Amino acid sequence: MEKYGLFEGINEVIGITAGEWLNTAPLGIIVGDGIKVRLYSNHTRNLLEKSGELFINVIYDPVVFVISAFEDLHEGWFESTEPPVIKNTLAWVKFSARMEGNFAHLEFIQGEVLRKDIRAINRGFNAVIEAAVHGTRYLLSRNPELRDRILYYGRIVERCGGKREKEAFDLLLGYTGIRV
Ligand SMILES: Cc1cc2nc3c(=O)[nH]c(=O)nc-3n(C[C@H](O)[C@H](O)[C@H](O)COP(=O)(O)O)c2cc1C
Repeated sequence: MEKYGLFEGINEVIGITAGEWLNTAPLGIIVGDGIKVRLYSNHTRNLLEKSGELFINVIYDPVVFVISAFEDLHEGWFESTEPPVIKNTLAWVKFSARMEGNFAHLEFIQGEVLRKDIRAINRGFNAVIEAAVHGTRYLLSRNPELRDRILYYGRIVERCGGKREKEAFDLLLGYTGIRV
């Protein structure tokens, strides 16, 4: 799996499931003894249960993570729909998927590395990802502690991020209804 950028531990990627439309959602692909993903009740899980398939895109774009956390990317975001590939994706993989409890067990079918990108770690990017995780939970609970955490990550985005991270965080504030 390393060839496609997936290493031991949890790999944050964009999961794509096909139904009447292409459904996109950030997912954490867990690589250990096997490959699996924990799925809450969402569109991804419903579609995957029907199709038995999951596509993933490995991509660095923070805006793509935020938009797909809160809605689906429209067709203009894709450079290909068969297989589904979001613009600037580094690698895509197609898995067969079988649900067992709350986990989908994944088996590699096919994949392709499209680009290689060299990039230092940016704390602003990481902070957008953390804020997006809390943001999806905040929408469900409106827990003020989560709001505070999101704003904490926002300060890191402000200090360490580039334009794209700041744009992504701003979108996140809009989706979550948090404005300061
Ligand atoms: C970085 C990140 C990782 C996530 N990982 C998962 C995951 O592993 N499983 C899951 O069910 N939801 C995960 N989520 C939340 C879903 O992406 C979110 O609930 C999304 O709205 C589901 O979309 P859907 O209903 O179109 O499937 C994650 C969110 C973020 C921002």
